[in-house]
This record gives sequence, C-alpha cells and structure tokens, in this order.
Amino acid sequence: MDIDFDGRVAIVTGAGGGLGRTYALDLASRGAAVVVNDLGGSVDGKGGDDSAAQKVVDEITAKGGQAVPSYDSVSTPEGGESIVKTAVDAFGKVDVVINNAGILRDKSFTKLEWADLDAVLDVHLKGAFYVSQPAFKVMKENNYGRFVFTASNATFGNFGQTNYAAAKMALVGLSNTIAVEGARNGILSNVIMPVAKTRMTEELLGAFADKLAPELVTPMVAYLCSEKCTTTHGAYSAAGGRYARVFWGLGQGWFAGKDAHPAAEDIAEHFAQIDGQDGYIVPGSTTDEIMALAGLFT
Ligand SMILES: NC(=O)c1ccc[n+]([C@@H]2O[C@H](COP(=O)([O-])OP(=O)(O)OC[C@H]3O[C@@H](n4cnc5c(N)ncnc54)[C@H](O)[C@@H]3O)[C@@H](O)[C@H]2O)c1
Repeated sequence: MDIDFDGRVAIVTGAGGGLGRTYALDLASRGAAVVVNDLGGSVDGKGGDDSAAQKVVDEITAKGGQAVPSYDSVSTPEGGESIVKTAVDAFGKVDVVINNAGILRDKSFTKLEWADLDAVLDVHLKGAFYVSQPAFKVMKENNYGRFVFTASNATFGNFGQTNYAAAKMALVGLSNTIAVEGARNGILSNVIMPVAKTRMTEELLGAFADKLAPELVTPMVAYLCSEKCTTTHGAYSAAGGRYARVFWGLGQGWFAGKDAHPAAEDIAEHFAQIDGQDGYIVPGSTTDEIMALAGLFT
C-alpha cells in the first residue's frame, strides 16, 4: 500500500459504529495501532455499552491488526485524558486523532432546551478539546501529528439543528487554530464534513441514502491522517464518492478610503460590492486578513 500507517498510533473517537468504525478498520488494515473509543450510547447520547468498542477491536484483531478498546466518554476532561493515556500506555504515543464521536438532540430553535444545548456542545465541541489537548502535547514532543475534526453540512444551516450546527462550526475554528499552533511541530489539522448513511442519518437522508455508504467517506479521512498528507487548515466534504473543499473565505469588499467616516447610508450604497464574492481569499490565519488590510492602509 502506498499510504500506510506502519508504526503509527491512532485514536478514533466514537468508533464503535457508523463512520468511526470504518475509519478504525481502514487505518488498522493499513498498519496503524488503533484506540477504538466508544461510549456505546444511543443517538441522543443516553446510556452506554462497552460492547460497541469491543466488537470493533475484535474485528480488527481477527484480521491480524492491532487495537485496544476505550469506553470513556469524550465529554469530560478526565475522559479525554484517559483516552489519550490508553493510547500511550498501550502503544507508546499518539500520531493521529480522529474526533468523530457525536450525538443529536434536534429541536427547532424555540423548543430547544438548555440540556439539549449542553449535551451537544459537551460531546462534539468540548469533547474535541478534551481529547485533542492531551494528544497535542504528546504529538508536540514527537514533532508529528494529524488531527481530523468532524463538522457537518449542518454548518450551512439546517432546520432543527441550532445546537449541532453551532458546535460543528466551532470545530472549524478549533481545527484552524490547532493548524496554526501545530505548524512548527509537524502537526496538521483538517476538518471532514461527511454525508453517510448511519444510524444517525438513515431516517434523514431520503432517496439518496443507499448511495451514501460510510466507506465512501473513509478514504478522505485516511488520506488526511496519513504521512502523505501535507495540507492543513482545510475542510473537506465527502459524500457518496464526491470529495470537495469547503472554505471560509474573505471577499475583496469595499474600502471607504483612508481616514473616511462612512455612515450606514454608504454601506447601503456599496452593499453589492461588500456582499460580492469576486476575488475572495481563503485566509490561512488572522495574519492574512491583517496583511490584506495593510495593503489598503499604506
Ligand atoms: N452520518 C452523516 O451523514 C454525518 C453527517 C455530518 C456529520 N456527521 C458526524 O459524523 C460523526 C459520526 O457520526 P455517525 O453518522 O457515524 O453516527 P453514529 O451514531 O453511528 O456514530 C457516533 C458514535 O459516537 C459515539 N459517541 C457518542 N457520544 C460519545 C461520547 N460522549 N464519547 C464517546 N463516544 C461517543 C456513539 O456511541 C456512536 O458510536 C458524528 O460526529 C456526526 O455528527 C455524520
């Protein structure tokens, strides 16, 4: 295999089923030692069952691969520390983290209860922090790391998913900043936006569901976690065999002029230019916007 993970150690959260299971199986088949983490709860994050992670570990070891289970929840600092410790104790390091664990608590905005907000932020957003920070410390020492964070096309806006969309968009900011902070230590960070038929989505995907196998997302994630990948700070949609960049861009806009004091009326007058998408850049950090501004001010 051209892309292999020989000698690499990977953590995949939420790997007891759905997309995470396919990532764990693929990385293990390519030589990675894998921590298969899963709490084994329901789609809405209730309950727990150790057998979910154990079954995937058994699948990997039956094929001659290396894997250990982790039943910790990503949603507490202790859980995150313990998941990373499981990797270090079993395999000596962490090279790859795929932050994939997730739940849904869909409700229209007026009906959303704070418990639904907290549960979704705790798993998707805080969970990604709790696993990634201890892993980042290990990667920094080894001057090598690959993070994949799992966002969603819900970030484009989706009825009934304010909590989920907000958590997923926040992960883009987290990944972009880890990409900036990790650059000097060989740590790359990217975002996957999958569309796949799993227990989470089978009732939501409609007519195309059978075209959207999770295994069609796996190659993109495996590439992003590999040594071959040199890109960082990216976000990629993977859906039914179509792979595409998703980006957060900055338009050229309208410049009121040096020392100008524009009013709301000036904004209205120039709104088409402000709103335009021609000549946008995709900033790699805040510095890129500051540099673009510097060009206007000097
Ligand atoms: N399937 C899609 O089309 C789709 C689209 C966009 C985003 N996603 C995201 O992809 C990821 C995987 O989802 P999936 O579709 O495979 O669903 P899934 O329900 O099959 O997998 C999610 C896994 O995360 C585990 N999990 C939940 N809370 C956990 C916790 N606190 N700690 C550890 N594990 C926990 C679950 O037990 C489950 O096995 C999620 O982050 C989801 O939001 C999926």
